[in-house]
Amino acid sequence: MELKILVGTMTGTAEMVADEMSDALSDAGHEAEVLAMDDLDASVFADGGVFLIVTSTYGQGDVPDNGLALYEGLLEQKPDLANVTYGIFSLGDMTYADTFNFGGKKFDEALTGCGAKRVGDMFAHDASSGTIPEEDGVEWVKAWIENFKKACEIAA
Ligand SMILES: Cc1cc2nc3c(=O)[nH]c(=O)nc-3n(C[C@H](O)[C@H](O)[C@H](O)COP(=O)(O)O)c2cc1C
Repeated sequence: MELKILVGTMTGTAEMVADEMSDALSDAGHEAEVLAMDDLDASVFADGGVFLIVTSTYGQGDVPDNGLALYEGLLEQKPDLANVTYGIFSLGDMTYADTFNFGGKKFDEALTGCGAKRVGDMFAHDASSGTIPEEDGVEWVKAWIENFKKACEIAA
């Protein structure tokens, strides 16, 4: 199975998580391409497929600057993403309690609003918890891919 991992980050943590997820997926026999959101717009979803969104949260609950064009493109263009399936691993910090992990939540709402289907719950990493985001990411993605395969089998 081929996946695209789209990375929204300000200081690189989400990118490290995505790279380790990609290695874990590759070990499990899946091809995963990691793409920084920088140069992406909503057309990245045009051919459908399976996506993982790995994004942090900045400002006051904003998506990272490098993901803003992609996020706003989804809201403005409202492409039909009925053939898109996705999972979300979000990074935030409970210190920002009022906007905790809004980066991931915003992408989740935007994608759902375009008709894409999320598999599994969004993982919300808390930087103040002391857990290592790369470790949580690898553990989460291994479970996520199994859920995804089961969902495909049930649908078939
Ligand atoms: C200036 C600043 C603003 C932030 N705002 C939020 C926020 O509103 N909500 C949240 O949950 N986390 C917030 N965070 C925490 C980051 O999302 C978290 O540290 C994350 O792990 C950073 O990942 P990155 O290196 O991939 O950008 C903020 C961090 C900074 C430095």
